[in-house]
Amino acid sequence: MTPPTIGLYGLGTMGAALALNLAEKGVRVHVANRTPSAVLRFMEKAGPLAEKIEGHQSVEGLIAALPTPRLVVAMIPSTAPMDAFLDEVIAQLAPGDTVIDAGNADFHDTRRRAVRLAEHDLHFVGLGVSGGEEGARNGPSMMMGGSAESWAGLEPILTRIAAQHEGDPCVARFGPDGAGHFVKTVHNGIEYADMQMIAEVYDLLRFGAGRDVRAVGKIFEGWNAGRLESYLMEITATVLSYADAPTNLPFVDLIEDRAGQKGTGRWTVIEAVRLGQSATMIEAAVAARAWSAEKGLRARAEETFGADRAALDLDVGLLERAMLAARVLEYAQGFRILAAASDQYDWRLDPVRIAEIWRAGCIIRARLLDDIAGAFSEGPPEGQLFLAPRFSSVMMEGIPALREVVTRAAEAGYATPVLSAALTFWDVMRQGRGTAALIQAQRDFFGRHGFERTDQEGDFHGPWWR
Ligand SMILES: NC(=O)c1ccc[n+]([C@@H]2O[C@H](COP(=O)([O-])OP(=O)(O)OC[C@H]3O[C@@H](n4cnc5c(N)ncnc54)[C@H](OP(=O)(O)O)[C@@H]3O)[C@@H](O)[C@H]2O)c1
Repeated sequence: MTPPTIGLYGLGTMGAALALNLAEKGVRVHVANRTPSAVLRFMEKAGPLAEKIEGHQSVEGLIAALPTPRLVVAMIPSTAPMDAFLDEVIAQLAPGDTVIDAGNADFHDTRRRAVRLAEHDLHFVGLGVSGGEEGARNGPSMMMGGSAESWAGLEPILTRIAAQHEGDPCVARFGPDGAGHFVKTVHNGIEYADMQMIAEVYDLLRFGAGRDVRAVGKIFEGWNAGRLESYLMEITATVLSYADAPTNLPFVDLIEDRAGQKGTGRWTVIEAVRLGQSATMIEAAVAARAWSAEKGLRARAEETFGADRAALDLDVGLLERAMLAARVLEYAQGFRILAAASDQYDWRLDPVRIAEIWRAGCIIRARLLDDIAGAFSEGPPEGQLFLAPRFSSVMMEGIPALREVVTRAAEAGYATPVLSAALTFWDVMRQGRGTAALIQAQRDFFGRHGFERTDQEGDFHGPWWR
């Protein structure tokens, strides 16, 4: 039997790792790259796996070598280069072929490109790939959006190369066109919030409690052995264990405190707002990264107002309970955006399957995802994760802890953007009657916008208009 065959264009960090993973799992791979010399270098480095890989010096050569219907993965920037790649290949492909964008794309671009390729009887797949280089090489978590025909060709290949969670491959088709890239975008949004939450707790332990950086690393290591187990907890503990060789200073202290971002966190926030939703924890994390870039301004403000903070030694168990509740809320916010987009675009996203394929291979893999999948399969009240019975004890124990952490941190002068956003979200959502009656009155007063009454049906104006 001929092995499944795929073409891969783009041998950068991710593309090269993915090509080796494919070859290792028995998939025949044809590769090409914009700069052809990278193909030779890659083949040399591939070792024995090179036997299963065929290098090409041009896109034309790559496409001509593939059996039809073709599957061509592009692992290049999903912006203008992807459109240029499509300009080049459309004429070379045959009806029924599929182009797969495995980069981090804005799902609006994916939808647009799917329409464009459909005009040529071609399929366009948006494939979210998570797990970084290590995941791409040994098993990523993958979120596919595209046609059922494309999935039929891709499924046998992707299930082989995906991360496995207790034998379950971490890959699924979530719907047509942009569905997979959208799920990947929200995955990254949750990743932003989780990373920022961890950084806030690190700040409290290191500078509030004055603990040595290695001791803080050990605390994260301990948490990673319990309910907070996750890849991001694990790498935090590892990162904090490193010292700079010549100076013996904690390595983290030598890194500029300006965080980079490539856009997926921002896209999550923008789409949330577009969908009439709000993901305040993700937004807080995006804001924290943006503010971090304003190093000069922060230094100036420190000079002017001082950066004094009081000592603050919070109990490790209290912090653990607070983080667990906040983590439930950050996933809850992510899944609320997914549900809103699913309704808007008629994708019928399956939250159970999303939680399941995030359990291995991806950056936000966490023990909590087993319970999240379980909670969604039981159907939580109002579809909300934080109302799920299996999370009630986490919330009952965690919210008082979160409140104590946030209030004491604020009193002592520590910024906790994500933890604070979690508490505020909770405090808003648990009030059956909130403050919006006054907002409605104000809107009616200045703009005659009208409001509904609690005691009568219909649309009303206030006495200020009589
Ligand atoms: N790195 C990660 O952890 C990660 C995780 C998930 C998804 N992604 C996504 O994966 C994609 C590739 O990322 P990477 O980390 O592998 O990047 P990378 O190491 O910088 O490699 C970029 C690749 O794209 C090619 N390329 C760049 N501009 C091009 C253009 N105008 N036309 C054709 N090819 C072009 C490069 O070819 P040359 O050799 O000719 O420069 C190279 O093969 C991106 O969409 C990224 O968002 C990355």
